[in-house]
Parts: sequence; structure tokens; C-alpha cells
Amino acid sequence: RPRVLSGIQPTGDSMQLGNYLGAVKNWVTMQDGYDAYYCVVDLHAITLDPPEPAALRERTRIVAAQLIAAGLDPDRCALFVQSHLPEHPQLSWVLECLTGFGEANRMTQFKDKSARGGADRQGVGLFTYPILQAADILLYQADYVPVGEDQRQHLELTRTLAQRFNSRYGQTFTVPDAYIPKAAAKILDLQDPSAKMSKSRPDAGTIYLADDAATISKKLKRAVTDLDGEIRFDEAHKPGVSNLIAIHAAFTGLSIEAVEAEFAGQGYGRLKGAVAESVIAFAQPFAARTAELLDDPAELDRLLAHGAAKAAAVASVTLSRAYEAVGFLPPV
Ligand code: TYM
Repeated sequence: RPRVLSGIQPTGDSMQLGNYLGAVKNWVTMQDGYDAYYCVVDLHAITLDPPEPAALRERTRIVAAQLIAAGLDPDRCALFVQSHLPEHPQLSWVLECLTGFGEANRMTQFKDKSARGGADRQGVGLFTYPILQAADILLYQADYVPVGEDQRQHLELTRTLAQRFNSRYGQTFTVPDAYIPKAAAKILDLQDPSAKMSKSRPDAGTIYLADDAATISKKLKRAVTDLDGEIRFDEAHKPGVSNLIAIHAAFTGLSIEAVEAEFAGQGYGRLKGAVAESVIAFAQPFAARTAELLDDPAELDRLLAHGAAKAAAVASVTLSRAYEAVGFLPPV
């Protein structure tokens, strides 16, 4: 069976709609037919504005619970916490030594994020972030990496590093492909449809899956659209409306065309109301299930330990092979 690996950062107190539609929804589907590894990337979460230690622990459990509530089954996939596997930073070091400064410097997410707080206030970890991400992926010999559009460049770097390692040290890593959904690969901010929806943007433009029904309705009601009043999917000219159509289509399982046809000639208010209904129909049972899981943190930690054991079985083998290929003296 082909392998998949993906990861999500435990930032904020809930995942947002874009995380689910752009990535996690595919993770759930890919549990069947693929050998699936999914990790909560807590090491990555301290690269920018490191949270309080207690908050980081809490958020790690929240994201894990939300992933299960979204449909991940810890028996059908390996769901684990990145910091439980020392192999990730161990491989990352070797890959760092294969990465050019200029190459790392060209990563647009690094440029955006380091610009935010002033480049010299950010740690080196923000710079090496995509290399740790490459290690996450290559350790599992992943064939596919289900992610949203914003991860495309990091995936290209991962492929480059895999190929570079293989040609220098001999065939070791599978060269992975990004698996990006056709629709919903980039969910936009409701208040500013020129930007992607993100936890680091103001709340009004971001729907959190933990938001209650009233909050979801209110955010959607206030979503920025346009003035021509036509319900039509046209990302270039009508990004706000197209975003709403894409969200509705993703939650109802309807095609974009079917949503366009259903709402043709109607007002934006009707569309927004329907989108709110489809989001809430998902978010309400999701929140209830998340709360149940968080009620029993010991059981949640046990599930994550089980996931870490499954992940370690693969990661340790790959790391040993890679270390041996590099020429590190094997420990006896
Ligand atoms: P993160 O935590 O920012 O986001 C998790 C996933 O959600 C997707 N995503 C979106 N998709 C569509 N529209 C949006 N507005 C939107 N916002 C977020 C992201 O593309 C991602 O797939 N660097 C990664 C975490 C990571 C990782 C990995 C991913 C670390 N190691 C290994 C894959 C494989 C990140 O920050 O994702």
C-alpha cells in the first residue's frame, strides 16, 4: 500500500476551517487504501511566538482530539506527536547539512513569517523549519503528502533534498508527491479574500471548528463578497463568493457547478445562510466529540503513545539506513 504522511501545527486553541478542508479531510479519506502516518508537529510550533509550556501541551492534546473527532481512527492510521520521535530532529540535522543557505532563504513562508516580527528577532528554527518538515516526510518513505496549496514550496524542497541525498549517498528515500485537493486547496480569509484563512489572522475572518453555531453564522454573514450580486464561481474576479461556494461544496459533497446552479439568481444572504448551515452541521457533532475525548486526557495520551510506537517502527529503520549511508559509525 502506498504511504502517506502529513502534519499539522498545534497553534491556537482549535484548527481552522482551511486546515480541515485543505488537508485533514483528505487525511481521513486516505486512511483507507494507504498506510497513513499523521503527526501533530509540536517541534514546529515553537519556531514562531513560542507558546507557554502549559498552552503547548494543551493545544497538542486539543489538535489530537480534533483530528480524531474529524474522523481519524488511531487503529487505521498512526496518529502521533512529533516530539515523541527523536528521529525527526536526528534526520533533520543531516538534511540541514545538505541544504543551501540561499535555498532555505527562498522559502516564501520563511520570508513572510520572519518579516512579521522583524527578521533578527526570529530564531534560527524558523529558518530550518522546512528542513525539519522534509525529515518528517522522508522518515516515513511517504509516497504522498496531503496538504493545502500553501505547502507546495516546502514539498518541492523535500523532493529536492530526497533526490540530493539519494544521489550523494545512494538510494535511501522515496521522493514524495504533494497531494493537494482540486477544490478547497486554499480557503480564503472571510474578511480579506486576498489572503488565505489562517490562525495568525484576526478572528473575524477565520472560522475555527470549535466556534459555536452563532459565531459561525455571524462570521459568515459578515463575510466580504463583492458588489455585482451574482452567485458564480470565479476565483480571479469574485474571490469572496467563490470561497463561500467552495466551502459549501466541500461540506455538502456537491460539485461547484451544482452549488452555482442551486443559488443562481439568489442573493448573497441566502448563500451565506446555507454555508453556515453546512458548516454547523459538521462543527456541532465535531465539537461534542472533541469535548468527550478531551474529558479523558489519559486515554488520549495512551492513543498517542500507541501512534508513536507505530511511527517509531518505521522511523527508526529509515534513520538507521540514512545514518549508515552517510557514514556514521553504527553503535554496537
Ligand atoms: P499548518 O499547521 O499550517 O496547516 C495544516 C494543514 O492545513 C493546510 N491549510 C490550508 N489549506 C487550505 N486553505 C487554508 N486556508 C489552509 N490553511 C492551512 C496546510 O496546507 C496544511 O496542510 N508546515 C506545515 C506542518 C507540517 C507538515 C509536515 C505538513 C510539518 N511537517 C510534514 C506535511 C508534512 C504547516 O504549518 O501546516
